[in-house]
Amino acid sequence: MNLMNKYPRLSDLKKPASKRIPKFVYAYLDSGTGHDHAKDGNRTFLDGIELTPKFMRGRINPDLTTKLGSKTFKAPFGAAPIGLSSLIWPGAESIIGCAAKKYGFPYTLSTVAGESIEMVSRSAGEMAWFQLYAPKDRELMRDLLRRAKGCGYSTLLVTADVPSPSRRERMRIAGAPLGSRGNSAFSSRVIWQSLLRPEWAVRTLFNGGARFRNMEPYAKKNGTMGITKFIGDQLNGSLDWDYLSEIRAQWDGDIYLKGLLHGQDAARAVTLGINGIVVSNHGGRQLDAAPSPLAQLSSIREAVGDGVPLIVDSGIMSGLDVVRALAAGADFALIGRGFMYAVAALGKKGGEHAVTILLEEVCDVMAQLGLKNIDEVKKIRSTGF
Ligand SMILES: Cc1cc2nc3c(=O)[nH]c(=O)nc-3n(C[C@H](O)[C@H](O)[C@H](O)COP(=O)(O)O)c2cc1C
Repeated sequence: MNLMNKYPRLSDLKKPASKRIPKFVYAYLDSGTGHDHAKDGNRTFLDGIELTPKFMRGRINPDLTTKLGSKTFKAPFGAAPIGLSSLIWPGAESIIGCAAKKYGFPYTLSTVAGESIEMVSRSAGEMAWFQLYAPKDRELMRDLLRRAKGCGYSTLLVTADVPSPSRRERMRIAGAPLGSRGNSAFSSRVIWQSLLRPEWAVRTLFNGGARFRNMEPYAKKNGTMGITKFIGDQLNGSLDWDYLSEIRAQWDGDIYLKGLLHGQDAARAVTLGINGIVVSNHGGRQLDAAPSPLAQLSSIREAVGDGVPLIVDSGIMSGLDVVRALAAGADFALIGRGFMYAVAALGKKGGEHAVTILLEEVCDVMAQLGLKNIDEVKKIRSTGF
């Protein structure tokens, strides 16, 4: 079967993903919050960005090499952190991590992913980034950072935009256990939905169910509190500016503050020595009235000045969207759900298939626009294409 002919776009993988994983897991992956207005708004904003080509420039062989701060990648995009990714598809972290290492783009491991910092450093190598949800216990934070540093991670994404869990109504309707949001018990509906997806069920069983390998050692030490309660207690709403300064002092690599939408927050982060900002509305999963991050880019750029890397995510589902984001003023793009639909649909082949689609699409769009390299893509805006 030729995967590229069958699934030439990331969006083609949504339906097969929904057929391979239980309904409550798909609801967790796909949903926004409230009525999904913010999630849908991300898509609408991207679709509204038109790019006008210039012709007569000879043969174009696009060079996708991308500089971000002091690092160079082979593509202008990376994989965003996804909590519980091993519940979506067991081993998803290493599947995407391996693709990242092979194709030279960053893979971000979530604090609450299934696989551990140590496991992913082996699959993703130098392409591994770590995402931190700041734990209430600062010694726990220091230990997570020590572990990441010890394994060679050099870039940290600190997530700012989860001051508390959001309601995630679609998850509730699908019968999902809500973890720190509420009832974490497995209902008969969850068991029934799981039995309808036997490959997922067997793989998940062999993987030990919903795992949080980064956090498990600390939860165990803490005694009787269950892991989801422990995580909810530790990770919800601990971050403030003072805490961010302490994280800055503890980490000597690059730090990107993830989830900002306001220029004042971005400017303040930069004054604390934060290296760059991930402008994001968490894929529309936290606040249903949040603006599209792309709509905020110019005010954030104005607030932080030139030279501060701005990464964008939320809604990016194609190479065209990556080019749109760069043309709108971003330096780099992250993709969350897109990689996960691919892995849920195709298992081991999903990581490579997703990146192959994205690379082909970025090259195609650059060629159609007459752009040779990523610097030229980023200049579209200022040169008024
Ligand atoms: C299922 C799921 C889990 C997520 N878990 C995390 C997480 O653990 N940490 C984090 O910083 N962001 C998390 N995010 C947000 C993503 O990192 C990213 O901001 C978002 O997915 C981008 O939007 P997109 O999915 O439309 O590409 C999660 C998103 C999804 C869809």
